[in-house]
Amino acid sequence: MTKNVQEMPAPGATAVARAHAVYTPLNLYFYDLLVHGLSNHLAWRCPTRRLSALYEANLSGNHLEAGVGTGFFLDHTGEGRIGRLVLLDINRHCLDCAARRLARFNPTLVQANLLAPIATSLAPFDSVSLTYVLHCLPGRMHEKLATLDYLRPLMNEKAVLYGATILGRGITPNLAARRLLALYNAKGVFNNYEDDLESLTAGLRQRFGHVAIETQGCVALFRAS
Ligand SMILES: C[S@@+](CC[C@H](N)C(=O)[O-])C[C@H]1O[C@@H](n2cnc3c(N)ncnc32)[C@H](O)[C@@H]1O
Repeated sequence: MTKNVQEMPAPGATAVARAHAVYTPLNLYFYDLLVHGLSNHLAWRCPTRRLSALYEANLSGNHLEAGVGTGFFLDHTGEGRIGRLVLLDINRHCLDCAARRLARFNPTLVQANLLAPIATSLAPFDSVSLTYVLHCLPGRMHEKLATLDYLRPLMNEKAVLYGATILGRGITPNLAARRLLALYNAKGVFNNYEDDLESLTAGLRQRFGHVAIETQGCVALFRAS
């Protein structure tokens, strides 16, 4: 059973809805091929193995996956590591898709908006992943990073938050990246034209004592604790 932990609609509900409406069962069927098979390499120039390595390095046995998509990275890196797993997403189809794929880890599902306080009684986690979510969320970087304030109460003192996001500013996108950025931002699937490394770094440093952040192609990969 899925817990729905928020009763109040979040601010900017239309923009929030546009950012995840694309994840229909049909689109999720093609998601891994399109995003992790093609776009990461050809457009964002951040090989998928680099993102997998981030999971290999930071995934704990007590993990919260925030923004689950198809569950791709946990499927590839979770074996023998995951003890407790919670999948959190606003989109029902993503939760269902990832839950099926990751059924062997017996996940708990939480349907919630990352841009609003997460009113749950969940016990805290040792790792939280936020992979390819920030570039979807509407608003300026400081508004998107409010999600860190909602996730932090769910983190143990020594927990690690890690993830990656596609930047829209301060990068040198190739033709494919420019076309995809234009298309996805026009549709509201991405909201990242104002996202740059400086604002991401500043927001992480405001909230965490230890921050490591690097870029590969158009992607910023981060780890904070
Ligand atoms: C681009 S996908 C990334 C999925 C996965 N982490 C990956 O890297 O393949 C973005 C995910 O964030 C979720 N999402 C988008 N907006 C959200 C919001 N406001 N609250 C919670 N989840 C959201 C989407 O439903 C989707 O599962």
